Amino acid sequence: SRRGRLPGRQDWSSWPHYQAAASGFRGYWYPVAFSSHITGKPKAITLLGERIVVIRDDGKVYALKDRCPHRGVPLSYGNQQFPGTISCPYHGWTFDLETGALKAVITDGPQSPICGKVTQPTYEVEERLGMVWIFVGDGEDAPPIDDQLPEELRDNPAVVGARIQARVGNWRFACENGYDEGHAKYLHRTALWRLFKAMPVWNETRIVRRGRWIYRVQEAQHWDADFPGLGRWSNQAWYKLKPPKQVANIGNTGSHRKVNPAIAAEEFPGFASVSMPGVLRIVYPTFIHYEFYVPVDADNHLYVGVMANFEKGIRTLPFYAKYLGAVRWLFHGQFSGQDKWMVEVTDAPPERLYRPDDSLLQWRKLAEEVTEERAERLKLTGDLG
Ligand code: FES
Repeated sequence: SRRGRLPGRQDWSSWPHYQAAASGFRGYWYPVAFSSHITGKPKAITLLGERIVVIRDDGKVYALKDRCPHRGVPLSYGNQQFPGTISCPYHGWTFDLETGALKAVITDGPQSPICGKVTQPTYEVEERLGMVWIFVGDGEDAPPIDDQLPEELRDNPAVVGARIQARVGNWRFACENGYDEGHAKYLHRTALWRLFKAMPVWNETRIVRRGRWIYRVQEAQHWDADFPGLGRWSNQAWYKLKPPKQVANIGNTGSHRKVNPAIAAEEFPGFASVSMPGVLRIVYPTFIHYEFYVPVDADNHLYVGVMANFEKGIRTLPFYAKYLGAVRWLFHGQFSGQDKWMVEVTDAPPERLYRPDDSLLQWRKLAEEVTEERAERLKLTGDLG
């Protein structure tokens, strides 16, 4: 148990990779848009500070650097003049979507001598969970995206409800907020979501690592507390729920007793977990909620909330009804709006941490270790940068 440990005053210099990752960690796949929103019309996005144009051609999505090498105009203002290509709006430089090769220059005739001499950088793209994912690395081959997705999402059929929202604030504040032990008990005390999901006042918690995730393991929950000289404080006063029976290491359950078999099979050590490059997983008995914090640049991120129900066929219908009718608004809406507000107003370090912030420290440590391993690995193969 980590009870009694005080993390003390911190800046981020103890985690140099983490400190340097203001615009995100390289070497990962990031969800950037709903698949249905990417069409033959070029769309501009920013990911890890890089401007990227995304376009669908013949069913497949492509991504290229969104800056024409000629005079620096965004290719996303252009359009498609020939199949399999994108043309810059200014002088008609025309790039192959697959390879980025300059295939034609419309304003310089069929034999333009610059063709074949210029290549536009491209990005690897995949589609999963109804979204477009882009890999941003340092020239290394992208690992299979399925290696990066949460295992249970990869291995089981699931019906998902998702929300993608552009938000102000550094992605690290968003990720830390998601995994933050203390905020759930206090910030969210007024969320309507809690009509259904009761939460304690405070927990005794231990952070454990398993594989590429770290988990918050709740060793004891306290539903109310006496503060000396001040009085009693309880989270239960206004919604009048009895403390729910705790299903081991799974989120508070209200009236549910049965755990979905796909979720039970994972034997999660704790109900809240986080992994690189900034993915939160909150496990409930019948569904899992994920948050992907996608760095746009140092001051903006995408909040990608995904709720997954591991059912198929007719059994997915109640989930759709519940998601569209309530969950989307209560959880991805109002509850998550409280997080959005805090991420906007959190200030950069220095910071004075307290006991529950062990969750933040362990996340930063994980990020630091994993990034150090990657740096070593890429140096070994001579691929860094
Ligand atoms: Fe793109 Fe000239 S700036 S073609």
